[in-house]
Amino acid sequence: MNILSIETSCDETAIAIINTKNNKTEILANIVSSQVELHAEWGGVVPNLAAREHTKNILPVLKEALETAKLTKDNIDLISVTQGPGLIPALLVGVTTAKSLAYAWQKPLLGIHHIEGHIYANWAENDDVQFPVLALVVSGGHTQLILMKDHLQYKIVGETQDDAVGEAYDKVARMLGLGYPGGPIIDKKAGEFEENPSSEFDDVELPRPMINSKDYNFSFSGLKTAALYAVKKFREKNNLSNEDNLPKTFINKIANEFQSAATEVLIKKAIKAAREFKVKSVVLAGGVSANKALRSRLEKAVNENLPNVDFTVPPFTYCLDNATMIALATAYRWEKMSENERERCLDNYKKVQANSSLKLS
Ligand code: KG4
Ligand code: ZN
Repeated sequence: MNILSIETSCDETAIAIINTKNNKTEILANIVSSQVELHAEWGGVVPNLAAREHTKNILPVLKEALETAKLTKDNIDLISVTQGPGLIPALLVGVTTAKSLAYAWQKPLLGIHHIEGHIYANWAENDDVQFPVLALVVSGGHTQLILMKDHLQYKIVGETQDDAVGEAYDKVARMLGLGYPGGPIIDKKAGEFEENPSSEFDDVELPRPMINSKDYNFSFSGLKTAALYAVKKFREKNNLSNEDNLPKTFINKIANEFQSAATEVLIKKAIKAAREFKVKSVVLAGGVSANKALRSRLEKAVNENLPNVDFTVPPFTYCLDNATMIALATAYRWEKMSENERERCLDNYKKVQANSSLKLS
């Protein structure tokens, strides 16, 4: 069957088409129209601006997806859309488009949870992930450890008590004058420090919040504030105003120290949870899964500490928001449904609602 999926929860307008046949999945189209440059001017995503761009882009993206897949509406068997969580004005564009298409084309429709999509990006090139699975979800809005005993079964065993790790990346990048989105830039600057380490700022140390707490929760707000104080102190010591650029060597040091602190806590808790819940696989998911240091350090930690546990990360193309991940989750949802439940999906053009705080269930 051919599944067409739509994702507009934040600042990417994305449509994908996948084909599933005999338990094999082929990705026929993965179109993403990114608004990153537009929002960079404002230092972050502006919800109404995102909605306006989605409205402008969504039908051209649909046309491109169908052309890339070499399909017409008649070959589409199922439509799905990110229902939440996300920015309401942005979600509404995708949801309304999906409902309109489902009604006009008379196709079944499914609403999908954005984080379920991120998790299922791990199945893009590996359909043999062994359960139980521990998913470390790291994005701009979420930082969670999720235990899955089987497909589509989620138990949140730990989560951030304040900022999401991606959000902390973005805020630290802003205080260093590095622009938006911050994750990839901090990743790069931290890499530059590792390649060329300097002892010049050895006194700069950032905390590893909650690293020894007995639960599986996280906190990144204190880490962000500690980075802010380190920057303030540096400016005062060197008589720099808030408008003056910081030296590259100092920026690289803060980026590396922040990234080391964040990855250390994420990895320590993930390994601890994987051990306690006796999982067979650890998977990484969400936009921050594109982070080179986190990918390689977590893989190393799993291999060293849990030799019988597999580690999977999504291919880079499917780490940031995209619709292929939504289509992959849809395929597993559809497979688990009875004929009656599938039949009822033909009515979903009336029922699916955007929900900015949708819970994973
Ligand atoms: O999943 P995503 O695309 O959107 C949400 O669902 O939130 O994640 C976006 C987040 C942003 O905070 C961005 O800075 C972060 O992912 N990010 C990264 C990297 N690439 C994107 N963080 C660290 N390292 C990266 N390479
Ligand atoms: Zn996302």
